[in-house]
Amino acid sequence: MNKSIAKKEIEKLRKDINYHNYKYYVENNPVISDYEFDQLLTKLEELEKKFPDLITTDSPTQRVGGEPLEGFTSVEHKVAMLSLDNTYNYDELREFDKRVKKNVEQVEYVVEPKIDGVGVALLYEDGIFVRGATRGDGIRGDDISSNLKTIRSIPLRTMGDRLKNIEVRGEVYMSLRGFKKLNKEQKKKGNPVFANPRNATAGSIRQLDPRIVESRPLDIFIYFISFTDKEFQTHFEAINSLKEAGFRVNPLVEKVKDIEGVIKYCKKLEKKRESLDYEIDGAVIKVNSYAQQKKLGETSKNPRWAISYKFAAKQSTTKLNDIVIQVGRTGTLTPVAILEPVEVGGVTVSRATLHNFDELKRKDIYIGDQVLIERSGDVIPQVVKSVSEKRTGKEKKKIIPKKCPVCKTEVIREEGEVAVRCPNKFCPARLKWRVKYYASRDAMDIDHLGESTIDKLLDIGLIDNIADLYFLKKEDILKLEGFKEKSAQNLLDAIKKSKKQDLSRLIYGLGIRHVGKYSAQLLASKYNSIDELSRAGEEELKEIDGLGEKSAETIATFFATEENINLIERLKGIGVKTKEIKKEGLPLQGKKFVFTGGLSSLSRPEASDLIKQKGGMVVSSVGKDIDYVVIGDKPGLKFEKAKKLNLNIINEDEFRKLVTSSGE
Ligand code: IVH
Repeated sequence: MNKSIAKKEIEKLRKDINYHNYKYYVENNPVISDYEFDQLLTKLEELEKKFPDLITTDSPTQRVGGEPLEGFTSVEHKVAMLSLDNTYNYDELREFDKRVKKNVEQVEYVVEPKIDGVGVALLYEDGIFVRGATRGDGIRGDDISSNLKTIRSIPLRTMGDRLKNIEVRGEVYMSLRGFKKLNKEQKKKGNPVFANPRNATAGSIRQLDPRIVESRPLDIFIYFISFTDKEFQTHFEAINSLKEAGFRVNPLVEKVKDIEGVIKYCKKLEKKRESLDYEIDGAVIKVNSYAQQKKLGETSKNPRWAISYKFAAKQSTTKLNDIVIQVGRTGTLTPVAILEPVEVGGVTVSRATLHNFDELKRKDIYIGDQVLIERSGDVIPQVVKSVSEKRTGKEKKKIIPKKCPVCKTEVIREEGEVAVRCPNKFCPARLKWRVKYYASRDAMDIDHLGESTIDKLLDIGLIDNIADLYFLKKEDILKLEGFKEKSAQNLLDAIKKSKKQDLSRLIYGLGIRHVGKYSAQLLASKYNSIDELSRAGEEELKEIDGLGEKSAETIATFFATEENINLIERLKGIGVKTKEIKKEGLPLQGKKFVFTGGLSSLSRPEASDLIKQKGGMVVSSVGKDIDYVVIGDKPGLKFEKAKKLNLNIINEDEFRKLVTSSGE
């Protein structure tokens, strides 16, 4: 192919890809399959590889590019980024309306959600995204272009002819779902978790490595044109033209006739707040007419034609009555705040986590303090800070206990770890968690054995140990409050059924520190039985590709402990499956799978089990070592990453064929 034909072909491909990208990420309404989209992108990549001088910065292949930055450069905004004045009740909104009406007549308003994220300005020249920056001090911000480019709903090239030379404003944010998932991953990796979606967004957008930003579930709503060379009569018209140009605009933007209409909207929005998958902290009210906006003008800080209405905060202050200590599965002591019950954003809160003792110290929190409580995307309420100005001198410091509050064994604190732990393996507190963990869905999946039942079993001394579960009799269970003939039988059946679970589930369920689901699968694919695993020393375990050093250490320690060996012997004696025969030669031996998107004909756990039966394993994140990436409906970023890494991507049908046919 000669260069001029290639150029045309490249341009066509980019246009098509941009269009489908828009349908997928902005409209959430794809018109071609992921496979077809993938083909277009691959074709473009191939052509650009052949003709590298035809690569442009706005090519869809350039979303995640370049090396990590040393730091951000400061840039001046085309138009100063003002902030909004706030109101907190409807009377203040009516006063705003009066002020407006002193200067202009017949006002119409546009109302929209106030997104709780990070404000940014995006600059386009001749239709091409050239720069994106943080707000900074309003005059200058940081150039975070390469990070913003990873957000798929930000067009790298505007659609149509109207908006070519513009600066637009918007809010980068993280959906609640994305936020929860990110925190789960952070926890798994041993990284600190984010307090709320806004912090997670701010932290992500300031990463120096765009590849990290790409892995963060960020999105954007655009709400304002700050500069344009075209004429617009109203804000509402501008919003509609933003949509036409391919920007993602919030669907809840509305035009209302007067201030009572604004108030009605605010009431409606506040009700809707809890059902949204992103956090909003109020509404923004804007005078619709540009002529009127101009007439009203601005103060040095805020426009006079717009205002925000802030919802009652999901924060409240209350008294911290006590700090109690919870002992977890691995013996970790966690301080928990016991609060004078207080309403936070419509929910009564009487406990909040304090995470660990370092945090307690850092936040300078004393028993008796007035503390600020916040409830956000994360359901567990948090103590934000103490209000130290309100101290009376009677507050008491909580010191790190020297002994476990449950079994009184002296606690330990390992070097380099924030956690304080009770080392007693028989600590009743730990036992409760161990049983709960063993029975959990990802482990032995014992139905009907929830936390309260475990509590009751422990309380009346029916179990002292995981293996005791298998010796329970119906008359024992009938002694527990709330159990009848049928429910007791259900529990017994569920316990019995767990004997047949896969080896990987058993390994995971033993609750060895630093051994998660993935490590357990890895171990089950390497070793034929628990006995074999128990004989593998630390050195051998350290050699296993994909298993961390810490895990190798804790596994070795686990199997060097007599009680654990006793437990395993008892489990074996009862008939719990501790080996999986004929691992060698299984058709998918050692193969690693990643899923992205929904499957239609089977559930994820069912799919995982099929893989495991054939000797393979399921991994949660995409890396070079993955053998198969299975894509379902609406695959996520993992799909993009897999394409980048040129991995073997298969659809559901191909997957089914693979797991049902291989080796039979
Ligand atoms: S308009 C000149 N609309 O709230 C008007 N701002 O305190 C510019 N924000 O800095 C702002 N949602 O980061 C506008 N729908 C919305 C918004 C919004 C969130 C943020 C924005 C701004 C801050 C104002």
